Amino acid sequence: MILQGYSQLAPVYPLIAQQIVDDYGITQGICCDIGTGPGFVGIELAKITNLEMYFIDDKQEALDKAEKNVSDSGLDNKVHFTKANVCMLPFEDGFADFVISRGSLWFWDDQVKGLQQIYRILKPGGIAFVGGGLGRYSPASMRNRLKGMGKKKMQKQGKGNFLNGDGLKVLLEKTMLDGCRTISDVEGEEETWIEMRK
Ligand SMILES: C[S@@+](CC[C@H](N)C(=O)[O-])C[C@H]1O[C@@H](n2cnc3c(N)ncnc32)[C@H](O)[C@@H]1O
Repeated sequence: MILQGYSQLAPVYPLIAQQIVDDYGITQGICCDIGTGPGFVGIELAKITNLEMYFIDDKQEALDKAEKNVSDSGLDNKVHFTKANVCMLPFEDGFADFVISRGSLWFWDDQVKGLQQIYRILKPGGIAFVGGGLGRYSPASMRNRLKGMGKKKMQKQGKGNFLNGDGLKVLLEKTMLDGCRTISDVEGEEETWIEMRK
């Protein structure tokens, strides 16, 4: 069952998963979905790959929902559920082949430290895709309807440090990490994602 708050975004998750596989070709090894919430990005990635999935969130309630949704999805992939803050990831250096984190960066206490931790747990040759957005495969009509939905809701509640475009680039500079760049979903729009290649 899809949670109410996320039901509008349901068509976006498989599109983002497909984009990731098309762009990075990573279909096996270890994948961490950080700030997984109800787990939908990781679930859709798992459906089309052999990735061993780590669903990670700092809220137990989110992990419980992710576990329920994973169980309802009938995945054959190996799955794990880890309660952790992105700023203190309980994994050794070089642990993951791929890290996805969608819609979570804006809520981290320390975005620089979180990004540095993600880089630390990537294997040499590993890739991370961190940020937010609807992915470039979402059709224009869907984008018009959904763009900025979560951001507006959270800003109303006074939550989130939403960095796009130049703000995201400044954040990246502060991390002093190599092999990183910012990416937008649609050419000409502000960047909302950070790609890391280790
Ligand atoms: C808006 S939800 C996004 C959920 C999912 N990734 C998606 O795209 O649907 C943000 C999630 O990030 C988690 N989160 C926020 N700060 C975090 C942190 N410092 N470490 C780990 N998870 C965090 C929240 O608990 C929440 O489940």
